[in-house]
Amino acid sequence: MNRKNVDSRLSGFYSLTPGERLKLAAERASLSVEDLNGLFAEGTLTLEQADLMIENTIGLMTMPFGLAVNFRVNQRDVLVPMVVEEPSVVAGASFMAKLARSGGGFEASTSEPVMIGQIQLLDIPDLSIAQEILVENKERILKQADECDSTLQKLGGGARDLQFRSFPESPVGPMLIVHLLYDVRDAMGANSINTALEKIAPEIESLTGGRAHLRILSNLADQRLARASCRIPADTLAFNNYSGEQVRDGIIEAWAFAEVDPYRAATHNKGIMNGIDAVVLATGNDWRAAEAGAHAYAARSGRYSSLSRWWKEKNGSLAGSLELPLALGIIGGATRVNPAAKAALALLQVKTARELAEITAAVGLAQNLAALRALATEGIQRGHMSLHARQIAVAAGVPADLASKVAHQMVEEQDLTPERARQLLESFQNSSSEHA
Ligand code: MEV
Repeated sequence: MNRKNVDSRLSGFYSLTPGERLKLAAERASLSVEDLNGLFAEGTLTLEQADLMIENTIGLMTMPFGLAVNFRVNQRDVLVPMVVEEPSVVAGASFMAKLARSGGGFEASTSEPVMIGQIQLLDIPDLSIAQEILVENKERILKQADECDSTLQKLGGGARDLQFRSFPESPVGPMLIVHLLYDVRDAMGANSINTALEKIAPEIESLTGGRAHLRILSNLADQRLARASCRIPADTLAFNNYSGEQVRDGIIEAWAFAEVDPYRAATHNKGIMNGIDAVVLATGNDWRAAEAGAHAYAARSGRYSSLSRWWKEKNGSLAGSLELPLALGIIGGATRVNPAAKAALALLQVKTARELAEITAAVGLAQNLAALRALATEGIQRGHMSLHARQIAVAAGVPADLASKVAHQMVEEQDLTPERARQLLESFQNSSSEHA
């Protein structure tokens, strides 16, 4: 795939109609509008496709598909598809990406796409002897795992290592856990690794004399980490009556709260996942896996804490970084079944699953910054209110062409109720018919 340079700065993008935005995004990504037809009602997931995806399908549920702008990750501009129902998420990420650009954008990296698969060995006479036997036979077991998927091997993936976790005491007696480390390249990898585990389990049983019980991947994919960082000159952070230094220090104080307090860390990390899940969902990936991995990783020290870190650089800039496991694929699963996910991957122009994880981590960091900046200054409600009011207005039956006007008035009056939306609609409709 040859990819063209994309300029992700689409100023005034928000003021266009969805159709105009789609056309502009396609142009920027050197795609035709037809390439993105998975985003139109007629091109999106059909009931027939959905029926093949899960059991007992009775319909479809749709979600807004937005595009975050201004992102620059590893010196490449990228348009970021986000599927999310919460107002302010796409706007927040786009705005923070703009601030991060002033410091060169995001830097991001990933480790190799290595998944962990677990085999639970029970009824083992001696845990250390069993482990020794498995170490002695490691190459043979890894070779057997590799035989499951010759295509993956040709692509440079496959079995990498065996590791062990010994639990002499558990509610059901001693347990030896065998970890298979398996490079799944551009897939999320759940199927590949689960197949490999089931293949090697009988050999492990016969070598150790134990009983292989569970054989399943671990969502704590800490061999498959994604990292993103950014630096923002302090003066770029200034707004209204807040100086850049005040905003920077306020963000660092807000982060410190999450660092020490799990009650705050849960909300802080939820804000990060607002961005991450939206990209994971847009690209047809498994967002429950991303959630499970992120929160387990946040508790890896034994105390649940912040996934991100914010600090002051020597030159006074604000700097931030984020690290979390991200098992994302660009082949297999829903990534290629759901036409909207295909459109998302086309817009992103990613060549590897690692690149997708790098961009996704950058979005998580941007989202975290958006939340902390708002919380550390004017509070979160102000920005939320107008979008929230628009949602209430639409849900109360206000037509799209009057939704912004009604919402604006609701925010002015600080009355965000469906009743008020309906009253305002009636009064706007009456006044426009009087003037007609
Ligand atoms: C809301 O969806 C997310 C925030 O609560 C995140 C945070 O508090 O950092 C605003």
